[in-house]
Amino acid sequence: MKGKFITFEGGEGVGKSTQIKLLSDFLKQKHYDTILTKEPGGTDLGVELRKILVTGNKDKMDAITEALLFFADRHHHLSEKIWPALENNTWVLSDRFADSTFAYQFYGHNARVSEENLRYLYKIAVGDFKPDLTIVLDIAPEIGLKRSFAKAETSDNKELRFENINIDFHNRLRNGFLQIAENEPDRCVVLDANKTIEELHQDIIKVVTERFGL
Ligand code: TMP
Repeated sequence: MKGKFITFEGGEGVGKSTQIKLLSDFLKQKHYDTILTKEPGGTDLGVELRKILVTGNKDKMDAITEALLFFADRHHHLSEKIWPALENNTWVLSDRFADSTFAYQFYGHNARVSEENLRYLYKIAVGDFKPDLTIVLDIAPEIGLKRSFAKAETSDNKELRFENINIDFHNRLRNGFLQIAENEPDRCVVLDANKTIEELHQDIIKVVTERFGL
């Protein structure tokens, strides 16, 4: 693959969408072909899956059903969009990828779907492929959730299914992301999302320029 694949991860309201857009603008200024995408919902089929996954009652499906649907979205996303773009020398920035499934469906949902089974699903849906770099934005869930709910009030956003799960769930998934990053220090970098938008952007640029020698 000739392009680079960078994923942004973290809990609710950490500022992923803002930061991913700023990084995309930075890379484009440097004349790298870059696309921005997200999970769930990076393809037409994914948009339909996203509606099922992130709207409605928090209890409408269990962790196993969620994991299967997230991996279905992911495989389609990879084969339709991510892999062809990387082959085409394009950098792909994705707002969430597989770490979210381990953090939310395994750590968040208290191991109701086992890590071993998630790894098996990963093998089926993703194979041996993984991101070149994963940026984990970290913030206390109380702060992130407050931001998410405030944003939802001023928009038509009804995608609050996971936000509506209790704070213990959000604390567990935060620790899950930190654990994943600790286990894979070569791929993952954790950044403090309490900083201002510009400060965090500068931190991200530093990581990306150093990692890829830009
Ligand atoms: P977001 O794009 O606004 O972050 O919303 C996506 C939601 O879906 C978010 O609450 C996290 C959740 N999610 C999972 O639970 N597992 C996954 O694998 C992915 C990609 C997202």
